Amino acid sequence: MAMARCSLLPILAAVLLAASLSLPPRAAAYAAMVDSLLPASATALSFEEGYTQLFGDSNLMLHGDGKRVHISLDERTGAGFASQGAYHHGFFSASIKLPADHTAGVVVAFYMSNGDVYERTHDELDFEFLGNVRGREWRVQTNVYGNGSTAAGREERYGLWFDPTQDFHRYAIRWSHDTIIFYVDETPIREVVRTASMGAQFPSKPMSLYATIWDGSSWATSGGRYKVNYKYAPYVAEFTDLLLHGCPAGSPPPCEGAAASATMPPGQRSAMERFRARHMTYGYCYDRVRYHAPLPECSVGAEAEAFLPSGEARSTDRRGGRHGKRHRRAGGGVDSAL
Ligand SMILES: *[C@@H]1O[C@H](CO)[C@@H](O)[C@H](O)[C@H]1NC(C)=O
Repeated sequence: MAMARCSLLPILAAVLLAASLSLPPRAAAYAAMVDSLLPASATALSFEEGYTQLFGDSNLMLHGDGKRVHISLDERTGAGFASQGAYHHGFFSASIKLPADHTAGVVVAFYMSNGDVYERTHDELDFEFLGNVRGREWRVQTNVYGNGSTAAGREERYGLWFDPTQDFHRYAIRWSHDTIIFYVDETPIREVVRTASMGAQFPSKPMSLYATIWDGSSWATSGGRYKVNYKYAPYVAEFTDLLLHGCPAGSPPPCEGAAASATMPPGQRSAMERFRARHMTYGYCYDRVRYHAPLPECSVGAEAEAFLPSGEARSTDRRGGRHGKRHRRAGGGVDSAL
């Protein structure tokens, strides 16, 4: 086993080199950014090296020498895994391929949390992928909780510019003491800057990394209107390139690199603004039904004009966009609720 892995290394290196040479400029910039954060020794860990199964018995399967993890949902159970260690700041990512076809009610989550340690004062950073009825795209939700702030959701939702069921795409969370950035592939999609008013609601305690698939019938698709249909099970989410690069909890400061303050170069910032203008479908900062006054960290600027008082985007074209020609949305559509 070990020998087989060794002999593959030169091939792997050649493949990676070829891949990096053919990257489009923005992806190359992202790769350079990630490289600058990671020590040369940083590699994707195999499942056994870095993770542990949480639930779902045989609905978690390892492939490819333990570097690919499949978690699935069927009528018996979902499945999930977590990092063995907890980290205080860092860069965390996975390449994920979501289940295709009819996925209403299915939720795939890739997130950081310390809810196992701090029951009432936990911190959390979420990517949640919300399934959909056949022919409609998955939606992505991000959220932030700090010090048990579960009464104040800080959700944002987006469509994607690609079909996340066709290929692997990288989803990443960069977390430092003063900034959180969520990325989809090379594009930053959300930045949370710590403000004094946010106080402890900015995640500040070590967290572990989690990946789960579960039945979100009660809320995930159009506010629960479309439930999981087990006729289409199992729903399989594939994870690979699991990257944990953080400061292990309890390690003495300073821990540099990925944990350092995350400043966004101007090119990345304009890419984020373009993404948000095209694909963001809901923002808690604009939801006047839920929050009569915006939460203190919200600086409601030009972006606000694109949103209704419900927090939903005014334009219903702000979805994936990739199916623009094949099936244009007629009016508000079923997924305006979520
Ligand atoms: C976190 O929440 C707890 C419980 O609500 C509170 O007692 C504590 O002061 C908070 N921590 C900080 C740093 O604000």
